[in-house]
Amino acid sequence: MRLGKKMGVVAAGAALALTLTACAGEGAGSDSGSEDNTEAAADGDLSVGVAMPTETSERWIADGDAVKSGLEEAGYSVDLQFAGDDIPTQTQQIDAMITGGADALIIAAIDGTALTSQLEAAAAADIPVISYDRLIRDSENVDFYVSFDNYKVGVAQATALLSGLGLTDEAGEPTGEEGPFNVELFAGSLDDNNAHFFWDGAMDTLKPFMDDGSLVVPSGQTDIDQAATLRWQQETAQKRMEDLLTSTYNDGTELHGVLSPYDGLSRGIITALQGVGMGPTMEDGLPVVTGQDAEIASVKLIQDDVQQSTIFKDTRKLADQAVVATESYLAGEEPEANDTETYDNGVKVVPSYLLEVDTVYADNITELLVDSGYWTQEEIDAGQAE
Ligand code: GAL
Repeated sequence: MRLGKKMGVVAAGAALALTLTACAGEGAGSDSGSEDNTEAAADGDLSVGVAMPTETSERWIADGDAVKSGLEEAGYSVDLQFAGDDIPTQTQQIDAMITGGADALIIAAIDGTALTSQLEAAAAADIPVISYDRLIRDSENVDFYVSFDNYKVGVAQATALLSGLGLTDEAGEPTGEEGPFNVELFAGSLDDNNAHFFWDGAMDTLKPFMDDGSLVVPSGQTDIDQAATLRWQQETAQKRMEDLLTSTYNDGTELHGVLSPYDGLSRGIITALQGVGMGPTMEDGLPVVTGQDAEIASVKLIQDDVQQSTIFKDTRKLADQAVVATESYLAGEEPEANDTETYDNGVKVVPSYLLEVDTVYADNITELLVDSGYWTQEEIDAGQAE
């Protein structure tokens, strides 16, 4: 088995070398860079730089690992870097990947607008750039985007909130319940393009209920600027929730739900709510709190009736798409897009491959996360990845 696989990789490397030689022969990028590529491919030694934002979130670790192993299985060497959510660290890492001879780059940006000079250098060296989950903005030099349908993520988060409150069913159909229910709204980091898509999808879904008075935001904080959480930090969300509880709920006003766009924020929000004596579970009166990413700590909270829901983005599938797109580029082809309209990065519409998401509630954890092999039941019970 093993030997067969290895031989497959060698064969693929040889095929790549042929393709690249053919490209160079046709004059497509026949500079010294692509000659290097040709030789590297003949050695089976093309390398891919993978820049991930942070290791403090489980999802990016899972993404990084999945992309790395997928690329290695495809026969590439991989330079995987995490940047500790620090922009200068990420730009330095990408600079080093380029000067180190990367043949392709896969980047999940911390700040989607902060990579202009790195991207210019990549373009000058004919290095294809794949934007991973977060769109890189304001640059011509982004070749492809792999992500999920981010607007639909927001719709799914809002629908989970509405159904948790009883205003709709899980499919988003109004139940006739009139409320009013009090909610607070959280958004992600404004320098992350996704945060705006999540917010727009959620707000478009919540608006009819806010308009008819069945949903109320007692703090009045309904602008994304007010709701934003820089760098998606758990502590920042916890602090804002604590401040909201003090400013708006001290007089006994009840809070029924919180729109949270990411599990890390959800855990901070839940800590703040429990800190003033709410809960500890939804059955005991903890407000409905949504999430995203199916992080293991949050899946346990969902199982334990603490967090209401999360949006499952299968990072294995996303990683696969990143690998497939990389293989296409390194074989001299264009990757297949399934969306060529939605993701305008301010300079151009970036061809994209978007994946679908699922909403996880306590009653479908097994079906969505355990049966698919994403987490084991033991990991969920422990609230920790093995
Ligand atoms: C977003 C991503 C979310 C979540 C968030 C915080 O870009 O789409 O799934 O991971 O970052 O890390």
